[in-house]
Amino acid sequence: MADQWFETVAIAQQRAKRRLPKSVYSSLISASEKGITVADNVAAFSELGFAPHVVGAVDNRDLSTTVMGQDISLPVVISPTGVQAVDPEGEVAVARAAAARGTAMGLSSFASKPIEEVVAANPKIFFQLYWLGDRDAIAQRVERARQAGAVGLIVTTDWTFSHGRDWGSPKIPEQMNLRTITRLAPEAIARPRWLWKFGKTLRPPNLRVPNQGQRGEPGPRFFAAYGEWMGTPAPTWDDIAWLRDLWGGPFMLKGVMRVDDAKRAVDAGVSAISVSNHGGNNLDGTPASIRALAPIAEAVGGQIEVLLDGGIRRGSDVVKAVALGARAVMIGRAYLWGLAASGQSGVENVLDILRGGIDSALMGLGRSAVGDLRPDDLLIPGGFTRELGMVQPRNA
Ligand SMILES: Cc1cc2nc3c(=O)[nH]c(=O)nc-3n(C[C@H](O)[C@H](O)[C@H](O)COP(=O)(O)O)c2cc1C
Repeated sequence: MADQWFETVAIAQQRAKRRLPKSVYSSLISASEKGITVADNVAAFSELGFAPHVVGAVDNRDLSTTVMGQDISLPVVISPTGVQAVDPEGEVAVARAAAARGTAMGLSSFASKPIEEVVAANPKIFFQLYWLGDRDAIAQRVERARQAGAVGLIVTTDWTFSHGRDWGSPKIPEQMNLRTITRLAPEAIARPRWLWKFGKTLRPPNLRVPNQGQRGEPGPRFFAAYGEWMGTPAPTWDDIAWLRDLWGGPFMLKGVMRVDDAKRAVDAGVSAISVSNHGGNNLDGTPASIRALAPIAEAVGGQIEVLLDGGIRRGSDVVKAVALGARAVMIGRAYLWGLAASGQSGVENVLDILRGGIDSALMGLGRSAVGDLRPDDLLIPGGFTRELGMVQPRNA
């Protein structure tokens, strides 16, 4: 509907805030501790400028590329996120939107919809795994994803279980029983549109994680799975190489911030990495992912695909990341806000905003394709880049 259309991601965020119960909205904002990293993820993009040409714009600019073997119509992929129960159609709506706009999607281990339904809505699904349970349990989940038709695996190993937030964390209920509904009622009644969306389905938000269980079963409750995850020893590089061999197909390690880790990921046989700090939800004080990108892309970009996620709110942010060496970016909050604002069409709207912004920036820069973007299209202030995990020269 025309009145639902929004022209920036910031407006989608405002609508999400207006439409969602307070605790649901704050679970989308997430972040950790003091919020240093989440703020820097966005602020760092503002420090980068453009060096546009005045004459020489090219018609028919090509935004397409490939990621992990999938053709995508713009260099933007849906990053896996675990709270899409903000909308009754959740990940299925997001998958449809991504398919309608010609792109791929990462599906979280903590998603609210079974992978089989999500792949039916969009065949370009990368299943995201956390290191949870023993190798046998992980192998079973990988096998289920393969059977379902996932075309790639994303492994996220950067989580630190850091929970405190200076502004207070939302209470995620263990289950949507009468007690929880009564507790949330005042907030939910203040958000009738959201309440009606779920009311129509006659089902409360799904707080189970179906992809942690067997196909066709509801899966464990969120906190049971989370508890098991907390009790699982963190993976080693050998575990990553084992999983990569087990999967055998396109494989991304998400959360790389250091050059030495990027090189180890190459040695472990990955096909892609995402330079990422988990959207600032994790180890607070980690710099913005865009600051760490260029040295990593320089070190390993010739061997594997380098993506970036964290802080993307505009098409021009995508262009900045690609100019600094990313093949594509992944987005998190931007599409979650679109989903909360107006479901599938809200996610399509966000992808259209990004497409329009990428196209405008290419036009201004006189580039005919995203693959032609170079660092000299940008104005990069001194001290912008953070070279994490570079071997220091002797006597430096
Ligand atoms: C609410 C929320 C839930 C997330 N859940 C997951 C998850 O289940 N798995 C994962 O790999 N990353 C998860 N992420 C991180 C995103 O995939 C991505 O790295 C991050 O959102 C990018 O930053 P942005 O939100 O600024 O775009 C989550 C992020 C948010 C905001």
